[in-house]
Amino acid sequence: MGYETIDVRKIDGGCGAEVLGIDVKAMSNRQWDEVQAAFVEHGVIFFRDQDLTPDQHIAFARRWAPIDINRYFTPVAGYPEIAEVRKEPDQKRNIGERWHTDHTYDQIPAMGSILVAREVPSQGGATLFANICDAFDALSDGLKQTLRGMNAVHSSAHIFGTTAKKNHGDLTFHNAEQVGDVIHPVVIRHPLSGREALYVNADFTVRFEGWSKEDSKPLLEYLYAHATQDRFTSAFQWRPGSIAFWDNRATWHRAVNDYQGERRLMHRITVAGCALEAAAR
Ligand code: SIN
Repeated sequence: MGYETIDVRKIDGGCGAEVLGIDVKAMSNRQWDEVQAAFVEHGVIFFRDQDLTPDQHIAFARRWAPIDINRYFTPVAGYPEIAEVRKEPDQKRNIGERWHTDHTYDQIPAMGSILVAREVPSQGGATLFANICDAFDALSDGLKQTLRGMNAVHSSAHIFGTTAKKNHGDLTFHNAEQVGDVIHPVVIRHPLSGREALYVNADFTVRFEGWSKEDSKPLLEYLYAHATQDRFTSAFQWRPGSIAFWDNRATWHRAVNDYQGERRLMHRITVAGCALEAAAR
């Protein structure tokens, strides 16, 4: 698509675009329309050198949708709407190390997540993104048709629940009792683009509906390996003031944990989505 008031450049790899020539605190109506179009077209958009205060981060998020507060993450002091994604120099673990997309354990999952870099390591600490619409399109017709008729169980219990605490290492999460399972279609019709998207992920999907975990594992692992090939993925290297806004229904992401001994501090706001519809068979 052609853009007139912003410059939209695909980043290297298979997922996402950088939006240049804009101050997200002071967008014209035309720029706002085009930023929304870029988000739908690319699934994740990146901005540099924005230097948003927490209040400006919240204001930017509310332009998209109401805020859907993450109940497990530690909030930023004084800003319950903003989740802290922090790794201290002495911590071994980081948040979001495995491929996932946010809040799929909710019946109405968050539409998107707006991550702002506050403090970044001198090297490393990238976030990887995968395009789950292109990945689905590239499967063979027979597998696509089989997946269109399937549902999957998503859960927060094994990640954030009380029995999962022993696996948290040096990470802290909250509300371990507020966990549960939901069912979503394996292939959704994306609510904005109308494209089909592969809606399972390695963190929160536990099995296909009507299948055991053991039976589900080989096909899920095949799909994860397929969608994370280089041709569908990109790496975004952060600088302080960078922003990534990803669509949880069009992408997966993972935070690379390769900066031992340095701090990385990000602020994340998740914005509300809608009930998801299965792609037609
Ligand atoms: C997340 O999984 O939301 C965090 C991603 C990141 O810190 O890069």
